This record gives sequence, C-alpha cells and structure tokens, in this order.
Amino acid sequence: MKLRFILLLFVLAMIFVQCSGPKKATMATSESMTMKAISFTTDIKPIMVNHCAPCHFPETGKKKLLDTYIATKDNIVDIITRVQLDKADDKFMPFKLKKEPLSDSLITVLKNWRKSGMAE
Ligand code: HEC
Repeated sequence: MKLRFILLLFVLAMIFVQCSGPKKATMATSESMTMKAISFTTDIKPIMVNHCAPCHFPETGKKKLLDTYIATKDNIVDIITRVQLDKADDKFMPFKLKKEPLSDSLITVLKNWRKSGMAE
C-alpha cells in the first residue's frame, strides 16, 4: 500500500516536471522578445508605411508628414493617442478606416518603442 502511494507520488512528480518544463521555456522566449530593442528602421517604419501611407507620406500626402524618424518621434504621443481612439471618432487614425487599423500588438510595439527611448 505504502509503495503504491510512493509510486503514485513519483508519477505525479514526473508529470509536474514534464508540464512545467516547456512552459518555462516559452516564458523565457517571450521575455527575451519583449526585451529586444525596438528601432524605428526595423519595427516602426513598416507600421507607418503599412497603415499611414499615402496620406502622411510625401509622394501624395497632403497631411502632416509622418514619414521620417524625426517626424514620427516628434508626434509619437499624438500617434499613439489617435490609433487607440474609438474607430468612429473623427480623429481616429488611419483616417476613416481607409487603411487597416493597428492591432493591439502593433500598438504595444509603438508604446514600447516610446518607453524604450525611441531608438533610430
Ligand atoms: C486616408 C488618409 C490617412 C491615413 C491612412 C492616415 N491619416 Fe492621419 N490624417 C489624415 C487626415 C485627413 C488628417 C487631418 C484631420 C485630423 O486632424 O484629424 C490626419 C491627421 C493626423 C494627425 C494630426 C496631424 C496634425 O495636424 O497635427 C496625426 C498625428 C495622424 N493623422 C496620424 C496618423 C497615423 C499614425 C496614421 C497611421 C496609423 C494615419 N494618420 C493614417 C489622413 C490619414
């Protein structure tokens, strides 16, 4: 009887080890991903091009230009505010949903870039 109990404990311990192993690994990965330095050139510019061109880019943009590192940096508070507004709000960007709205994860990238000091 006692032996069975010990065996059972052993099996449970093995299951616990098996289950907690991979979880730790995933946590380490996502942690290192959030630690990864965010830069304008590799992370932010593609978001601006995909969601804010052509209106804020020089080829056809008639609106305030948001095409460069400096312009994006200088307007980051306004940018982060507008992409999070209610989609029906006049000030919501992308304007009148003419481009795909930013996903929550892209908004987080913008916020983290700002928090981490806005590297070029
Ligand atoms: C379809 C065209 C269009 C797209 C795409 C667009 N915008 Fe705009 N944007 C406008 C217009 C029109 C205005 C002026 C109206 C206003 O102030 O709300 C404007 C104004 C702004 C302003 C205020 C500029 C100022 O005058 O100070 C910011 C900041 C802004 N947009 C950010 C963005 C961001 C960030 C994106 C991409 C996520 C984006 N916009 C996508 C058309 C666009």
